Amino acid sequence: MYKKTVVLTGAGVSAESGLSTFRDNNGLWDNHRVEDVATPEAFDRNPELVHQFYNQRRAALSTVVPNTAHMALAKVENRSESFLLVTQNVDDLHHRAGSENLLHMHGELLKKRCVQCHEISSQQSDLTLESICGHCERVGTLRPHIVWFGEMPLYMDEIMLALMQCDLFVSIGTSGTVYPAAGFVEIANQSGAHTVELNLEPSDQNSQFQQSIHGPASQVVPKFFESIELI
Ligand code: APR
Repeated sequence: MYKKTVVLTGAGVSAESGLSTFRDNNGLWDNHRVEDVATPEAFDRNPELVHQFYNQRRAALSTVVPNTAHMALAKVENRSESFLLVTQNVDDLHHRAGSENLLHMHGELLKKRCVQCHEISSQQSDLTLESICGHCERVGTLRPHIVWFGEMPLYMDEIMLALMQCDLFVSIGTSGTVYPAAGFVEIANQSGAHTVELNLEPSDQNSQFQQSIHGPASQVVPKFFESIELI
């Protein structure tokens, strides 16, 4: 029986909804260079290219729906005294599935940020250099509310506290290649938590997990959470 659960998800949890992962065959990093579209320097150098990359990914959200893994996570949230879902994903599928105790540590496609006044606000349509900040009314100061390589992930204090207090840590659909998320399992192990990897194949961190179940998230996630007792 587990009282304090932390779940980490990556792109693999949204793969069966039809969104590309990053490092699988034909993944996003097969078709784009990180240096061109996912760093602050890239945005300074060629903001139009960066806007185009995120505009395409934002538009794709209207063509996909949450899958049974997203739905299972939303359902299990209310079965546990303390449940935190940390996602590396910037899609809105966990939210649309009904998850509420949800932290997007790498930001969200459906939000923008003004580099001048730092206002964070909703963004449903394309962002361009002509977009105007609704708060400070400047033109051309808006960027996707996405954490780029070299930038600090969001909510780290809250996440670290939850990891140090959890007794169950489940990692779903992530290759375990990008820190700090790739290091979460080690913190959970040190906290004495039971650590589980649910992934299509063994991740880079697989040896750190006490339990691994490999298969498609839409199958292994609902099955796993039906098999454990949360209080
Ligand atoms: N079910 C379960 N796991 C799957 C599925 C599936 N249907 N399809 C793919 N996977 C697994 C892959 O085996 C892989 O281990 O999901 C993982 C996806 O890994 P990545 O593409 O590296 O995505 P992720 O781990 O989320 O990347 C982390 O890297 O580029 C940055 O900011 C970006 O948040 C991202 C971070």
